[in-house]
Amino acid sequence: MAEPKILIVYASRTGNTEKLAQAVAEGARSAGGVSVELKRARDTKPSDADADAFAFWSHSAFEYMAGELKSLFEDFYIVRDKLAGKPVLLFTTGQGGQSSTLASIDRDVGVFNPGQDWY
Ligand SMILES: Cc1cc2nc3c(=O)[nH]c(=O)nc-3n(C[C@H](O)[C@H](O)[C@H](O)COP(=O)(O)O)c2cc1C
Repeated sequence: MAEPKILIVYASRTGNTEKLAQAVAEGARSAGGVSVELKRARDTKPSDADADAFAFWSHSAFEYMAGELKSLFEDFYIVRDKLAGKPVLLFTTGQGGQSSTLASIDRDVGVFNPGQDWY
């Protein structure tokens, strides 16, 4: 049987989030038993909604998620049935004012009726 696939999607302007997402992907791979794919939000397509679990991660900008992640959520809306019921992890990177950003991601992800979401 194929290993469950975790898709880690991130947006990063100056590279901090990218480094953190790479480290989390490496950690998840080293735990074994799962296949881990890491993609920038702007390179992620509705066909990627076939993964078994997701992590969405954005840097904070003006207390909101990056535009490319917001745009992806709009693209995912047409395949929202594929995300329903699946586990989702949410992350944000910031300099102390990131809770509104996390709330913005949580609000959009809530549209997809995830099975569980953690942050
Ligand atoms: C234009 C701009 C707006 C920002 N707005 C926020 C913010 O609202 N809250 C916060 O915590 N950090 C904010 N930051 C800080 C970044 O989120 C932080 O530097 C983060 O590490 C950048 O991640 P990245 O390197 O992946 O782009 C802002 C940075 C910039 C340049």
